[in-house]
Amino acid sequence: MAAPQKILTNDDLSRMVDTNDQWIVERTGIKERRIAAPGQTASDLGLIAAREALERAGTKPEEVDLIIFATMSPDMPTPATACILQEKLGAKKAAAVDVQAACSGFIYGLSLARGAIVGGEASCVLLVAAEALSSFIDWKDRRTCVLFGDAAGAAVLKPASNGRGVLSTVLGADGAGARFLEIPAGGSREPASHETVDGKRHFLRMEGREIFKYGVRTMTQAVKDAVAKCGARMEDLALFIPHQANLRIISMVAESLKLPPEKLFLNVEKYGNTSAASVPVALHEAVLGGRVKSGDLVCMVAFGAGLTWGSAVVRW
Ligand code: ACO
Repeated sequence: MAAPQKILTNDDLSRMVDTNDQWIVERTGIKERRIAAPGQTASDLGLIAAREALERAGTKPEEVDLIIFATMSPDMPTPATACILQEKLGAKKAAAVDVQAACSGFIYGLSLARGAIVGGEASCVLLVAAEALSSFIDWKDRRTCVLFGDAAGAAVLKPASNGRGVLSTVLGADGAGARFLEIPAGGSREPASHETVDGKRHFLRMEGREIFKYGVRTMTQAVKDAVAKCGARMEDLALFIPHQANLRIISMVAESLKLPPEKLFLNVEKYGNTSAASVPVALHEAVLGGRVKSGDLVCMVAFGAGLTWGSAVVRW
């Protein structure tokens, strides 16, 4: 994983907009988040995480044959950030593509990587999820600026055996909810103009309450579906790693799934919502902290703009 050095606390935010530490902690569980340095892009953060993941996997960049880059804050609209990373890494043999599934991006990428490996299209996939979301935030809008942060996570996937690896994935989308979380301008519908810039239409807009209800509903169902799909039972799960969007959303999902607190991984207080990077950053910290042991059954789940959702069960 990678996180920028700069820490932005709730007290820092209270000097920028009309908010306070108590409101943010009570409504979201977030205490601080990381903010990319000026000029630090999603591919820069992704590169740090990718290098570390490759090193831990004992894999050289030249061995990678597919790079999947999950992000909603790409370096540029085109080319794909995956291609920019491919060049920085020197992964000359790798095909490279971006996945835009917002906060569900890592789980979507995991499912696509698994499919590429099972289908024989690839034998070494580098999955990177990185966000420099701070570039797309209106730092005068207290409804959004307190929620998000920048970070990256990466994983190297290869064929697995002995019942290990990614056992099941479940993906879904509901475009009817697209308007609840969007960056309205900068695409072909509203090309960049003086008006779009003046109207702040290049920043993230969100209907928080709609997203909240949707997140609880879809994540709860996605976990049940992924667990059932691999023939496991809820009580077989050793650890549950949800998208770190909001502590209240996570608590409601955990409650309806009857998950005991010791099976729940949380780091939302340190990073806020880092979108696609959220799940792999949490997975990395869970592994480093000894919360995941060899052979454990781990469930990851996320939801995000699109609207999208996804879950995965992995035998570690
Ligand atoms: N500080 C102080 N007050 C605030 C702040 C703030 N930062 N933000 C909003 N308020 C105020 C509102 O103006 C409102 O005031 P009013 O009653 O006078 O109008 C009041 O607090 C309540 O606002 P709500 O929006 O109703 O607050 P809610 O309890 O719904 O919490 C929140 C807002 C935290 C955004 C919540 O709705 C939420 O977490 N939603 C999900 C967001 C999310 O997870 N988004 C990411 C999705 S993933 C992706 O793809 C990026």
